[in-house]
Amino acid sequence: MKRLPPLAIVVALLAVLLIRQRRRPIMHPPPLTFLFENPLAGAFVGTELLVRRLDLASGMRVLDAGCGPGRLTFPLADAVGTGGEVVALDGQPAMLAKLTGRLERHGVANVRPLRATLGGSELAEGGFDRIVLPMVLGEVRDRRAAVRELYAALRPGGVLSVTEVFGDPDYRRPATVRREVEKEGFRLVGRFGGFPAYTLNFERPGVATKSR
Ligand SMILES: C[S@@+](CC[C@H](N)C(=O)[O-])C[C@H]1O[C@@H](n2cnc3c(N)ncnc32)[C@H](O)[C@@H]1O
Repeated sequence: MKRLPPLAIVVALLAVLLIRQRRRPIMHPPPLTFLFENPLAGAFVGTELLVRRLDLASGMRVLDAGCGPGRLTFPLADAVGTGGEVVALDGQPAMLAKLTGRLERHGVANVRPLRATLGGSELAEGGFDRIVLPMVLGEVRDRRAAVRELYAALRPGGVLSVTEVFGDPDYRRPATVRREVEKEGFRLVGRFGGFPAYTLNFERPGVATKSR
């Protein structure tokens, strides 16, 4: 029997892993955070850019959902100031351990780490002005439940901001994100970027009460 060349074996293995990940996603492994904390990711989904897309004001409460080691958490905390708060949620304790170490080293006081799994009915908090979800949605196993939870966690008039990057094994197309998010009651209010990275902002309809 003819032997397969090593490259074909590697490609086949990657394809199997990709299919498996798309069907039953696992969360991003904590030792591989360099895959999204690098200058290339910074060029397309840099933190300054993502923060600008959120129209933040000082005093706001923000949920950084799937915060990882805090790439975006720190600029968010800066933007809302000491009168505001960022709740940094992640399902993996190892991600939160990295974040907590960084918070301590930088003496940041307006960030509260929270271990919870999106879609697992563990998010009991509400009243957020903004929820950010960059490169997270595709890793969530029960997306429908997660979007419902996030809807409940926003104040009426609050904004859910979803960012996706092509090339991420968990990438979701804009039309798919819109379908999944709008089905749960959100309304599209902003689009930014395109290929290879885009952000869609969705509002929880209702009376927009002015944040502090
Ligand atoms: C690719 S990283 C992105 C981190 C961060 N949002 C950023 O832009 O740098 C995805 C993060 O989402 C978290 N995550 C994925 N699914 C999750 C879930 N169902 N509940 C909570 N966290 C989740 C992972 O643990 C990981 O830290």
